[in-house]
Amino acid sequence: MKDIEQAAKLILNSAYVLCLTGAGISVESGIRPFRGPGGLWTEFGEPPMDGYQRLLQNPKKHWEEIARRGSRDSEFVRALGEAKPNPAHLALAELEQLGILKYLITQNIDNLHLADGSYHVAEIHGNSQKLRCVRCGNRYAREAISLEILPPQCPRCRGLIKTDTVMFGEPIPKDMLRLCQRETDKADCMIVVGTSAFVYPAAGFPLEVKQKGGILIEINPYATEISPLCDILLKGKAGEILPQLVVSIKAIR
Ligand code: APR
Repeated sequence: MKDIEQAAKLILNSAYVLCLTGAGISVESGIRPFRGPGGLWTEFGEPPMDGYQRLLQNPKKHWEEIARRGSRDSEFVRALGEAKPNPAHLALAELEQLGILKYLITQNIDNLHLADGSYHVAEIHGNSQKLRCVRCGNRYAREAISLEILPPQCPRCRGLIKTDTVMFGEPIPKDMLRLCQRETDKADCMIVVGTSAFVYPAAGFPLEVKQKGGILIEINPYATEISPLCDILLKGKAGEILPQLVVSIKAIR
């Protein structure tokens, strides 16, 4: 595909390549996206936007509800548990190993980038396998915190423990936001994979790269909010396009 070769050249001519991924990169791992064709929310409708406020008002009730999750979340939770990295994740891990991809910001909570050996990863919406203290921000593996007594307390500061996954209405943890902004400030090229580019602040990062004259390369079967800004739109599935992009980069470099 000529466009893939063109994208490979733009990437190799850039000084600091960043990648932003969304739910679409995990569709070929069996995890449904939220929006668009096959989207969880396209089928079930969006969840309430005040989850975080309700958690703070009644943490014990929130944790008891987690145990009594409905069919929608159990389908999603089951897919999370069974999912494995797909060729798209592996292609990005290879670009990192080649020293071409400097950092990866993901909106996904599925842990699949870390599972495939990617190291420089910022999980801006958290990780479903972790818990986090609302007060001090410390993160813990799920198994490190007892759920005998609800709501669980932070071993470090006795603050309220919640899932690391960022809830609607919850601010992005400051450490994570600083990391993503630091990386975006350095980027002169961003590969945007599998995101509808609706949700901020993540959706703002490609705009910032573009505004300072950087390159945007989008990989998505469909056009999105930011497609008009992209230098190249590689239309197709991430699991098919990204491996081809890696082959093209290795052939040229
Ligand atoms: N390869 C690449 N992209 C794909 C594929 C695929 N195989 N299948 C679908 N897509 C694209 C869709 O066209 C869509 O643009 O992935 C995108 C998924 O969009 P969303 O479901 O909105 O997911 P995302 O953009 O990550 O949502 C951002 O919103 O719901 C919150 O916190 C949640 O992190 C999520 C955030």
